[in-house]
Amino acid sequence: MNIKELYDFGRDALLNQKFENPGLEASVLLLEATGIDKLNFYKNHDRLVIDSEIDKYKELIERRLTSEPVAYILGKKEFYSREFSVDGNVLIPRPETELLVDKAIIILKGFDYPSILDVGTGSGCIAVTLKDEIPDSVCVATDISYGALQKAKQNSKSNDCYPFFIKGNLLEFIKDNKFDLIVSNPPYVREKLFHKLDRGVRNYEPKSALVAGDNGLGIISKIISESMRVLKNEGWCLLEIGFDQSVKVIEMFELNGYKEIEVFRDLSGIDRVIKAKWKK
Ligand SMILES: C[S@@+](CC[C@H](N)C(=O)[O-])C[C@H]1O[C@@H](n2cnc3c(N)ncnc32)[C@H](O)[C@@H]1O
Repeated sequence: MNIKELYDFGRDALLNQKFENPGLEASVLLLEATGIDKLNFYKNHDRLVIDSEIDKYKELIERRLTSEPVAYILGKKEFYSREFSVDGNVLIPRPETELLVDKAIIILKGFDYPSILDVGTGSGCIAVTLKDEIPDSVCVATDISYGALQKAKQNSKSNDCYPFFIKGNLLEFIKDNKFDLIVSNPPYVREKLFHKLDRGVRNYEPKSALVAGDNGLGIISKIISESMRVLKNEGWCLLEIGFDQSVKVIEMFELNGYKEIEVFRDLSGIDRVIKAKWKK
């Protein structure tokens, strides 16, 4: 089989199962299986592919047909123009979370040598990116999952950027240190909406990274109330939230006495990020 025939085979298999981007995914997996680059893929459609690469490609397409996310199949995902290694221990970094990082960078520009705490770091995408973007910051990243922290440390090394990683339950382990910014993309999906998520998300991404109690607001609520103890005066709490949670989260910040609360929409026009200042 040549490149074109193999590509058509993969694209048609994905198309038949109603995948959203069959052409794109078939080509990405073909590049992975054959090791050819994009330019050669477009220029040498009639190049013959050796049997071992054909087998490898068919295996990757089979995996995708079970709804395994492409990022897990490739073992990597781009986030904020950096590459992050991913596996089933960590949530795949999402484009929406880049908005959280944009807003964090704006906040951090107002501080000299800022201290940052990333709660629920997962792949480390937020902490590693912030440490890289603001090199004179001190960044601490925490997660309850040992497997996630191992991945985050790997990503810290591969990006040559070194936050401190600590295993712990939310902010419990922080005793005396205070931070200028607490940032988090916490689990915020309601348990009863879990079954409505995409099959690839449900079957492959860690449920503990997605779902939170109290209608999805349990972990957000704990972060907001615990952050008051851990933030410096005039420090910021910056959170990613679910599509319908902004009203409730604003209320939580207000009830706890935070000021200057502001919500930001993502590219789809959904309330996605919220910031609030802790002022005594
Ligand atoms: C939505 S994922 C975010 C991962 C990463 N920060 C990102 O934006 O891609 C939430 C993360 O919070 C972690 N987590 C869940 N419960 C936690 C807890 N009680 N304490 C600390 N981390 C927790 C999960 O293990 C997961 O890695």
